[in-house]
Amino acid sequence: MRTKIIDVKDNKLDTGQLDLIADAFKEGKLVVFPTETVYGLGADGFNSDACKKIFEAKGRPGDNPLILHIAYISQMDDLVLDFPDLAKTLADEFWPGPLTMILKRSKRVPDAVTAGLDTVAIRMPSHPIAREILKYSGLPIAAPSANLSGKPSPTAFKRVFEDLNGKVDIIVDGGQADYGIESTVVDLTVKPPMILRPGGVTPEELRKIIPQIEIDNAVIDASDKRVPKSPGQKYKHYAPEAECYTFAGRLPSVVAEINRKIQQEKGKKIAVLATDETVEDYKGAYIVINLGSRENLIEVAHNLFEALRKCDDEKVDLIYAEGFELRGLGVGIMNRLLKASGGRVKFGL
Ligand code: TXA
Ligand code: MG
Repeated sequence: MRTKIIDVKDNKLDTGQLDLIADAFKEGKLVVFPTETVYGLGADGFNSDACKKIFEAKGRPGDNPLILHIAYISQMDDLVLDFPDLAKTLADEFWPGPLTMILKRSKRVPDAVTAGLDTVAIRMPSHPIAREILKYSGLPIAAPSANLSGKPSPTAFKRVFEDLNGKVDIIVDGGQADYGIESTVVDLTVKPPMILRPGGVTPEELRKIIPQIEIDNAVIDASDKRVPKSPGQKYKHYAPEAECYTFAGRLPSVVAEINRKIQQEKGKKIAVLATDETVEDYKGAYIVINLGSRENLIEVAHNLFEALRKCDDEKVDLIYAEGFELRGLGVGIMNRLLKASGGRVKFGL
């Protein structure tokens, strides 16, 4: 199919563009649009056939449910069986923003969205383009990240285009996503509530409202062989082509260990994912990519997926990544590095 590109300047869509997008959704077509986390691949969340097309376009396993995106709290009534007070409090605090809530689904939500589960994932994005599109169309929009399944989520239009040109009807080019890693997924149907995927909203922020909240251990501990509670977490994810290793612990020891590995693997094309604090310290790597300052994890999160894609562009053989402390946004960043490394993470250096 021919994909139409809609170029949006300064986050402002004109009425012609909004009509085109809203009509596409009504006709069951696929539209990619930017959100504050990553780009999303959207379809009308009430249209089962349209949602099935999302799975085809991405090559996504059918048992991995989609997130519904909304613009107004009033849309919740159509989507959930009940909207508990705790969920309302979280919505007040974090919506619009990078928080996805899992709640009991209403009958109106098709199985194609929930992969047959009796729960549904919902979030209200804050990106101005996403908000305008959602408001204008008035529909709940089902949207996974706009990458081919198994690739890092796209934070830049260029990567969406590489993955999905010819496979979707419209791509809205809205520049860079802000956070760079996906939303935090919280299951509110279990007691105590559980973080199934760490992301843009940190565990500390959530703990202020739900002190007893837990984190699904499988998302940060590679040695935990239990099945993750969020279907999406069990798949190979965010995976660059090269073999990736992550090293965590005291920074000088991490640098020393990575330099030692570079020496050991001499002759191979090696990429190092470094930070402002260490970028000058590596010797003998083919490429050293600076993710940004350790004092500014939003910057690191923002650069991470693009760095992994760059490693693919450069066709490196090995990636050695520095780890991060398991607090704040560091939890989400480490979860993505764990996935990219296929569990090859060395802690405690
Ligand atoms: O930031 C984001 O969340 C982005 C943007 C586009 O909104 N979307 C995104 O969607 O990351 P996706 O499909 O790549 O990830 C959705 C995650 C998957 O891990 C999926 O298994 C989980 O949410 N999920 C969806 N519905 C669920 C449910 N009912 N129960 C448990 N996990 C669910
Ligand atoms: Mg995804």
